[in-house]
Amino acid sequence: MITDVPAVELNSGTSIPQLGLGVWQATNDETERAVLSAIDDAGYRHIDTAAAYGNEEGVGRALAATSVAREDLYVTTKLWNADQGFEPAQAAFDKSLSLLGLDYVDLYLIHWPLQNDERLLRTWDALEAIAESGRAKAIGVCNFEPHHLQLLVDRGGTLPAVDQVELHPHLTQHAIREVAGKHGIAVESWSPLGGTSNSGWGKASKPNTLLSDPVIAGIAERHGKSPAQVLIRWHLSNGLIVIPKSVNPERIAQNIDVFGFDLTDADLQEIATLDDGVRVGIHPDEMNLGAPE
Ligand code: A2P
Repeated sequence: MITDVPAVELNSGTSIPQLGLGVWQATNDETERAVLSAIDDAGYRHIDTAAAYGNEEGVGRALAATSVAREDLYVTTKLWNADQGFEPAQAAFDKSLSLLGLDYVDLYLIHWPLQNDERLLRTWDALEAIAESGRAKAIGVCNFEPHHLQLLVDRGGTLPAVDQVELHPHLTQHAIREVAGKHGIAVESWSPLGGTSNSGWGKASKPNTLLSDPVIAGIAERHGKSPAQVLIRWHLSNGLIVIPKSVNPERIAQNIDVFGFDLTDADLQEIATLDDGVRVGIHPDEMNLGAPE
């Protein structure tokens, strides 16, 4: 069991385990089993869910069943698009807490920025109030492009602790990482293994090719590791927070067994050639699914 995942210090004054379990596209029952296996068998201490995944209840059941203490676990959830706005966001947060069976989350994120900056700012006001109440130890955002981050910088007040974005060797997101770094905002990678061919939310412009990429396979062979382990190590080596999704206990264990090797400069240079800017998910500026009128 791996229990020594490094922690990343956040601008909120709290810290987050650099590697966690993602649970997108898993049912409540699958999620419950995956989270329990991750915590109890593999040593994960960080779980990343969202209201929109429909599996906060499954996460909650696993958290209730594990013997690992709440304060040793790190739980993230996210506000769905339909609940943006000051009051809707607060009500949605209460519902998430109740489904999770928790009295606080470690990190609460706005899931997508959408295309209404005024409403986005009111939503951020709500998250700030939630953080002030102590029920979210940190607040942050997902899928924010540099112009969205700038909106919060210009607003003043609390800056997001993290920006969770699609990020993998095909889409290394240099512009976002540069702006986030300048403001002390940590970057988290979603679809860190290149995602699935069925990305669900719009435009799967390209199926996952990273797990079968010959460059990744060659590096994996040299290190005696799997392609997924090489990809996860790449995120860690780049200082990114990484949340690979799996519901398979063997893959869950494999994905955290990434602390006994390191990529060489030559490996990193080879992986850098894979950046072609191709996404598996929708571009944040095009996402408006479920947005309030
Ligand atoms: P499964 O849940 O059946 O393990 P991402 O985190 O980039 O969204 O990728 C998740 C996809 O990769 C899921 O389809 C997941 O399937 C699969 N996956 C997760 N870990 C591994 C692994 N170690 N090897 C191969 N596929 C994996």
